[in-house]
Amino acid sequence: MNLKDLYIDFFVKKGHKQIPSAPIVPENDPSVLFNTAGMQPLITYLMGKPHPYGKRLCDYQKCVRTNDLDAIGDTTHHTFFEMLGNWSLGDYFKEESIAYSFEFLTEVLKIPVEKLAVTVFAGDEHIPRDEVSKEAWKKHGIKEERIAYLGREDNFWIAGDSGPCGSDTEIFYFRSDDEVPEVFDPKDDRWVEIWNNVFMEFYQEVDGTIKPLAQKNVDTGMGVERTVAILEGVNDNYLSSIWKDVIELLEKITGLPYQGNEKSMRILADHLRTAVFIAADPAGIKPSNTDQGYILRRLIRRAIRHAKALNIDIQSDFEKQIALKIIEKYKKYYKELEENQETVLSVLKEEKQKFNRTLEKGLREFEKHVAKQKEIDALTAFHLYDTYGFPIELTEELAMERKMNVDLDGFHELFKKHQELSRTASKGKFKGGLSGNGEMEIKYHTATHLLNAALKQVVGPDVHQKGSNITEERMRFDFSCDHKLTDEEKKKTEDLVNQWITEGLDVTCETMPKKDAIASGAECMFIEKYPEEVTVYTIGNVSKELCGGPHVQNTKELGHFKKKKEEASSAGVRRIKAILE
Ligand code: SER
Repeated sequence: MNLKDLYIDFFVKKGHKQIPSAPIVPENDPSVLFNTAGMQPLITYLMGKPHPYGKRLCDYQKCVRTNDLDAIGDTTHHTFFEMLGNWSLGDYFKEESIAYSFEFLTEVLKIPVEKLAVTVFAGDEHIPRDEVSKEAWKKHGIKEERIAYLGREDNFWIAGDSGPCGSDTEIFYFRSDDEVPEVFDPKDDRWVEIWNNVFMEFYQEVDGTIKPLAQKNVDTGMGVERTVAILEGVNDNYLSSIWKDVIELLEKITGLPYQGNEKSMRILADHLRTAVFIAADPAGIKPSNTDQGYILRRLIRRAIRHAKALNIDIQSDFEKQIALKIIEKYKKYYKELEENQETVLSVLKEEKQKFNRTLEKGLREFEKHVAKQKEIDALTAFHLYDTYGFPIELTEELAMERKMNVDLDGFHELFKKHQELSRTASKGKFKGGLSGNGEMEIKYHTATHLLNAALKQVVGPDVHQKGSNITEERMRFDFSCDHKLTDEEKKKTEDLVNQWITEGLDVTCETMPKKDAIASGAECMFIEKYPEEVTVYTIGNVSKELCGGPHVQNTKELGHFKKKKEEASSAGVRRIKAILE
């Protein structure tokens, strides 16, 4: 039996009900992007609401923590991990909780007591020293020298700034072949924390005040990957049974040994596993530029960058092979992986293709700047983001590898400006009618630029945009023209737009002073309404317009353009309605 099964089995025998893992994306809590701990979906029950399964619960919970992405690539950090947890909702408290943990570790997992040490809360002006936990540990044979007393920083647990909380006792394992020192020193990193038992009896307000909860709870958490690595006696989580077969697959795909290529292989394995779980989650997250979708995008793009570093052929189905291996391993525990397998595979593939179209060029662009600059300035970073789809963190990572700085403040300023422009554009102030910023609207927005350019080529250079209105379902485009379009003109225009779509033209964006934009011949509707600094979108060499965006990155994304109707709008203005299919 593996750790998860042993754990659930043990606590079920101790009267706990197993609850299913909650989705990674919290269902009713917009304050966090992902569940970061097993207790997160249980907050209301810890605060007193009766749980339908009773007062003793246990589970394994999917968790995602992305606050420390830079740390991924070492032996112990992961963006996705599973947390084993058992809870008492106003039922047992410190002594039983400690008794259960001790029994599970020493009798089920057969960890020798000599290899264990614990920390307990030292006490402060509000909450006294935790003598109860100390006595409980001693009763089980943990020696006084193996008990350390720590303060709020270490032995007090709360998720975020406010919520249910309390002092905790943490259990450590001596992960080394060295002789176990008599006295436990929590700063000695051969001691690793494996389990955290939080005694949640308080509620903390945002201002820091603490009041007792209606009930005394226990919330424990044990990280699966860390504990498995310990039990299997490996010093690198990726060498444990959790990762071994994925690493072997990577060795096969790349033809390279793990040794010497650890960092990129770990990042690739870790990020793809997390992407698989996020994409399979019932929340239906897709890669995007906001919230969970942005995390998903960043993870996939960073994984691809490292796949490239490992010389993997990006066009091959490597991401599918790895995803299938991961799904196979976990589907017994998380049925959504198998149910949503097709979605997962297509999310990974589409995002890969999208990024791959610009990755090479973006990397070249980056090299170009590296050669002539001392730091990556804001405009370059923004250009890499907007035109080549480089998440800013990726640019930072590339820069870090060259020991270069990125002007992050400048980037964020440009980013904000750009967002404001887009928002104004979406309110219809500049371009009239980009209502939402959904994926379809963005596609129609780019199609509008293509249509504008096609009409100029087919009908004549005097064609100018007079208005536009976009919904998720269709686009409407008004333009100056003194005659009803002939059938030939209509067909040629439609064909030209589709030709440009098929050609897969890159859509790029630059920020520049308004006068330079005009001088460069960029098309624009109401010049006086634009700020001094403008963004200009260029599509291949067919279109250049002042515009707030947003746009797709490549015209290929548009699919197929179809004109539905051509009619008069007002004197000298014609209107085309069209759809993308
Ligand atoms: N909430 C605690 C933790 O995340 C115990 O589950 O460590």
